[in-house]
Amino acid sequence: MNLRSRNNSIGFVPTMGALHKGHVHLIERARSNNTVILSIFVNPKQFAPGEDYNRYPRYIEKDKVIATDSGVDILFLPSTDEIYPEGYKTFVNVEGITDLLCGRFRPGHFKGVATVVLKLFNIVMPHRAYFGEKDYQQMLVIKSMVRDLNLDIEIFGIPIVRDDDGLAMSSRNVYLGREERVSATSLNRALKVSREMVKSGEMNAQKIISEMERIIKKGDGIEIDYISLCNPETLEDIKIVDTRVLVAMAVRIGGKRLIDNCIVEVK
Ligand code: PAF
Repeated sequence: MNLRSRNNSIGFVPTMGALHKGHVHLIERARSNNTVILSIFVNPKQFAPGEDYNRYPRYIEKDKVIATDSGVDILFLPSTDEIYPEGYKTFVNVEGITDLLCGRFRPGHFKGVATVVLKLFNIVMPHRAYFGEKDYQQMLVIKSMVRDLNLDIEIFGIPIVRDDDGLAMSSRNVYLGREERVSATSLNRALKVSREMVKSGEMNAQKIISEMERIIKKGDGIEIDYISLCNPETLEDIKIVDTRVLVAMAVRIGGKRLIDNCIVEVK
């Protein structure tokens, strides 16, 4: 409250911790014109039963060092009871786009995300908030919520940060064994191929998806939840690639779920 009244611009980076270079990039963007508040809260409401809530990586001491070194001004570490006190009953449901892509495989996930992000927004009261584009659908859900509920917060999507082998940075990458990590590099390779196919004039979305599937399925123990070429605003599948398209996918490697995406521009 004081920060706001002192005419500061507050930039907010909500996270679930296990901070990596992708988070540092968000913090750097936020730092360029704000006082930065970073939250770490592993939100139980966005994990479906049987998902990895209990074993989600929690490295709080290491995270504190990364946050401080990256220039975070205030670290917000709420407890589960603070966010969801006994008798908690209220949820935010963004309709439509949450039924598609990851929404088909993770029931209730985006309801949990929208709910916690709105609560964090109400507590932190930021002017600007920063989200990684690796979770493209999440970013879209938050933008819709902000627009529909007239929240006075500017949402920034920050491009994906990749490791040297092309794997998109994610807190869940720590789950991958050595072989699995090698297999995981096929996601970025498949995205590159989709870009090249569109660039060389391929307009048939199914042909592009089939080629991406072929590349990804070369690895052992890989199951594809979905590969979609879709409208970047509505997330509805497209059949003919004649305009800007989101190429998005979710893949399980040895049971570990990874997502990745890119936007492909059509000349
Ligand atoms: O992207 C994440 O880390 C989480 O989904 C978020 C936005 C912090 C909400 O729990």
